[in-house]
Amino acid sequence: MSKHRIAVIAGDGIGPEVIRVGTTLLETLRDKRGYDLELWPLDLGADRYLRDGTTFPREVADEIRDRCDAVLLGALGDPRVADLKHARDILFGLRFGLDLYCNVRPVVCLHDRLMPLKNKRASDCNFVVFRENTEGIYAGMGGQFKRGTPDEVAINEDINTRKGVERVIRAAFEYAKANGKKRVHMADKSNAMQHAHELWLRVFREVGAEYPNIEAKHLYIDAMCLFVVQDPSQFEVVVTNNLFGDIVTDLGAGLQGGLGMAASANVRPVKSGEKRVPGLFEPVHGSAPPLAGKDVANPFATVLTVGMMLSSLGYPEEERRLTECVREAIAEGACTADVGGKLGTRDAGAFIVERVASLS
Ligand code: NAD
Ligand code: IPM
Ligand code: MN
Repeated sequence: MSKHRIAVIAGDGIGPEVIRVGTTLLETLRDKRGYDLELWPLDLGADRYLRDGTTFPREVADEIRDRCDAVLLGALGDPRVADLKHARDILFGLRFGLDLYCNVRPVVCLHDRLMPLKNKRASDCNFVVFRENTEGIYAGMGGQFKRGTPDEVAINEDINTRKGVERVIRAAFEYAKANGKKRVHMADKSNAMQHAHELWLRVFREVGAEYPNIEAKHLYIDAMCLFVVQDPSQFEVVVTNNLFGDIVTDLGAGLQGGLGMAASANVRPVKSGEKRVPGLFEPVHGSAPPLAGKDVANPFATVLTVGMMLSSLGYPEEERRLTECVREAIAEGACTADVGGKLGTRDAGAFIVERVASLS
């Protein structure tokens, strides 16, 4: 068996186009640097669902858990599947099924040209969001009552457990400690959500007290959105719940040059001696149906995501190299139109593959 087995779900819309860049990059690194990587392409997504009703088979989930080291995912979501059942089954099947409780989303602007804020530079935007990834409003608890009548009721419960809240907050502090960061922000809405978010606030204060060298700052999420666009430089590490983390990282992508530049890792940090669980690595963006099949999607979010994956597999220097190659591509205008270039998805990807392959 290969040292690193990576399941690949290209998915829907622009997913296959950006993932092709990612897999070419991995194959090139495998051949150039001798990494023992095996890619396992999975035929899952809207096409498969529409063909035979399959979303996320149990055997595939088991094989990923038992025999893979990572999953690389493009995006899921297709206008032909109105209720997006396949997308939820696959995405939440992986996030919840593997209990990948940290959705780590760097909000890093790589070049001054991409910074949309007046009088700010790329160096002013460099923080990471730890989004809780297994509960909150995403737990899917709830239901509909008297659907389609004037009296109908629709409920989605917001689930916040002590264990779930504590472990992601602790992971954010541990990350800060390991990376020389001085400040962790927690964003909630405890002024309105006095039950669930009082728990977040209390646990944040308790866990924060265990890290006396790191400043623990609490913010309400609405104010955080304001501060992120006024002065992102005040943020180093942010921890928040599932829904707020989803929203604030699309806002953050706006400071990075758009969704085509935002990467993410869904991971489950383990203590030494515990069994490693494969992480799920995906660009933050979705399937962008209007862009699909046109060779216009920006593949750099996927390149940066592959970097995060390689770091987690034990090759952090490759993540640094890939990030530098993306920065150079932006500086040289070797990029897609959303970030000011003239290249298509394939050529922008080929630029990175050639650049990284030329590094010894
Ligand atoms: P989206 O991220 O697909 O697109 C939002 C905007 O960003 C669009 O204007 C799009 O053109 C732009 N964009 C996104 N990726 C880009 C790229 N690589 N290059 C250039 N521009 C890019 O979000 P949406 O339109 O709200 O959702 C479309 C579908 O994707 C929906 O079905 C949604 O549920 C799904 N979705 C899936 C994931 C995932 O699988 N992880 C994430 C987000 C959204
Ligand atoms: C994301 C996406 C998903 C989420 C959707 C597709 C359910 O927006 O990964 O950011 O909300 O987590
Ligand atoms: Mn999202």
